[in-house]
This record gives sequence, C-alpha cells and structure tokens, in this order.
Amino acid sequence: MTESSGSPLLGIEDLRIDFATERGWTNVLNGVSFDIQKNQIVVLVGESGSGKTVTSLSVLGLVPRAHSRKAGGHIWYGGRDLTELPVRELRDIRGNEISMIFQEPMTSLNPAFTIGDQIAEAYRRHRGGKKRAALARAAEMLDLVGIPNAGSRVRDYPHEFSGGMRQRAMIAMALICEPRLLIADEPTTALDVTVQAQIVELLMRLRDETGCGILFVTHDLGVVAELADKVVVMYAGEVVETAVARDLYIRPRHPYTEGLLAAMPQQGVKGQDLPTIPGRTPDPWDMPAGCRFSPRCGHAREECRSDAITLRPLDDGRACRCRRCGDLTLAGVR
Ligand SMILES: Nc1ncnc2c1ncn2[C@@H]1O[C@H](COP(=O)(O)OP(=O)(O)OP(=O)(O)O)[C@@H](O)[C@H]1O
Ligand SMILES: [Mg+2]
Repeated sequence: MTESSGSPLLGIEDLRIDFATERGWTNVLNGVSFDIQKNQIVVLVGESGSGKTVTSLSVLGLVPRAHSRKAGGHIWYGGRDLTELPVRELRDIRGNEISMIFQEPMTSLNPAFTIGDQIAEAYRRHRGGKKRAALARAAEMLDLVGIPNAGSRVRDYPHEFSGGMRQRAMIAMALICEPRLLIADEPTTALDVTVQAQIVELLMRLRDETGCGILFVTHDLGVVAELADKVVVMYAGEVVETAVARDLYIRPRHPYTEGLLAAMPQQGVKGQDLPTIPGRTPDPWDMPAGCRFSPRCGHAREECRSDAITLRPLDDGRACRCRRCGDLTLAGVR
C-alpha cells in the first residue's frame, strides 16, 4: 500500500487487543476502526475503562508487549502497518512523526531536570544538534504554547510550574519535532475549567498553524464541542458510533451517545441535576451477550441481548453499532 493524497493520516482497522490477566487472555479492544485525516481533530470519547488509552497506546506500540497480544487488525500510517513494525522503527516514529501527551502529566516530567532540558532532549533524540540550539528551540516552543517569559522559564524545574503550565510544557515537548499526528490522552482532565478552555484553544491554533492531525481523548463531550471535527464514541472496548461532530451533537444515533450527551453540563445552566446512564461499564471478562450496551439501554429488545452487532456504515459517512438506529429518534443538544 502506498500513501496517496486521498489516504488518511492514520487508519485504525478492526483492531483487537487481548491482555494477559489472572483470568487468562482477556479481550479489551474488539474491532476498533476509525481514520484520522491530516488537519483533522478527532475526539475519542467514552466512560472510564472503555479502551481509549489502550487504543492510543497501540498507535505508538506502547501497549506492554509481554502482557498483551494483537488478536487482529491493522494501524495504517504512511503505507505501513504500525502493529507489525519492528521496535526500532517505531522508536523513530514515536515523538517525531507521532507524539503523545500522556494521561498523567505529573509523572511524565522528571522533577530532577529543568523544563527546558527535558523539552530540548526530546528534540535532540530525533534531530540531534547542539544542546544550545535545542534549548533555544525549547524556549520558542514554550512561547508558542503561551508560557510568559519563556526565555527564562526554560530554566525552571517542574515544581516551579503550575499544573496548567506543566501541561503546556508537555504539549511543547510533544510538538517540538513538528509531529504529523498528536495524540492527547485526557490532557485537560486535571485542570480547572478556564485552563481547560485555553488548552483546547491552543490545540486548535496549533492544528491550524502546523496542519497536524490530532486525536484528543476525553470522557467529557462538553469540553470538546468546539474542538472536534469528528467524534468516535467507544463503549466496552468497541467503537459504537462515529460521526462528524456537529451531526453527532445534534442527532446522536446510538443510545449510549445520547446518554453521554444528556450527562453533559449545559453552558450557563446552574444547579441542574444531570441524568446519568444507569448501570456501569462491564468488566472485560464479563461482557454481556449481544450488544454490550444492551443491559443499560432503555431501547433494547430481546434480539439486542442475544445477537452480536457490528459497526454499520450509515449515510453522511457515519457509522453506528446499534440494530435499532434506523427506527430510533434520539435527543441531541442544541
Ligand atoms: N495492562 C493492562 N492489563 C490488563 N488490563 C488492562 C491493562 N490496561 C488496561 N486494561 C483494561 O483495558 C480496558 C480499557 O482500559 P483503558 O485504560 O484503555 O480505558 P480508558 O477508556 O482509557 O479509561 P479512563 O477513562 O479511565 O482512562 C479496561 O478494562 C482496563 O481494565
Ligand atoms: Mg485512559
């Protein structure tokens, strides 16, 4: 397969991953499929345990090899299947062409080194060159992500930065090699609402300036309404719906997406009681028969609880894993 202008930046195709657990091999990703185009921001959303982080880590080959196995599927990037790439080739791509901001920013920065040294090191690992030049570039990157007095703040240690500034430093580190794809796993979850909004704005600006694709992982559809071009909804290790963002917010097609939207705080409405989806995500070793969401779904019929269901293409490039999506009219948000 060769890359053409029409092919996506990243194509995840029917990815299946098992983990070794005390109960033996347990399936945690079951047929995950979606694309990311150049210049596109794809939001991956779902409750805790739905498989968002495992999907993200799979792209970079960072799922622990000793405890996991690929049960099927491909991750296409530049005509190559990343799931089949030797570790050395993956290392060249990681942090260089594809970068990731991890879910725990505090543990990703080393307290013993200055912010500038750590960002510069990320650059020299792939591009080489003199430390001085790399430090100057680190300062430029800190400035780009909105750290005031970046030229002197490069000499600060992580504890001298606030949580929001540390997250910006992580973004600077992820962007210093001008990646073609940025994966950001819940980059705003630990931050207050104002800083969250600033980070979201920053990522949109960076996409506009660099043309990179972004995979933004979150459990909150509210934070990303402005950001998303496309939304991929995951439930219990499966993609249950994908759609252009505007369509998905206005008219969800999967009952789970409807539930996520209903649980989203509306701007300017204070003191409201938000409906939550009853029940909880099933454990990977105890998946319900039929549709995995059926035990929690108010629309489920008998056949939903017994017959397996695949992700089906719909009009407008959408896809949905619900046998009732043709006859249900679900509530979105305005
Ligand atoms: N190393 C591991 N070994 C065994 N199971 C794992 C491992 N890592 C993740 N899992 C399981 O895989 C499933 C998906 O986990 P994942 O971390 O991808 O969820 P998530 O959607 O990122 O959740 P969160 O919103 O809490 O970050 C969960 O059931 C989790 O328990
Ligand atoms: Mg996660």
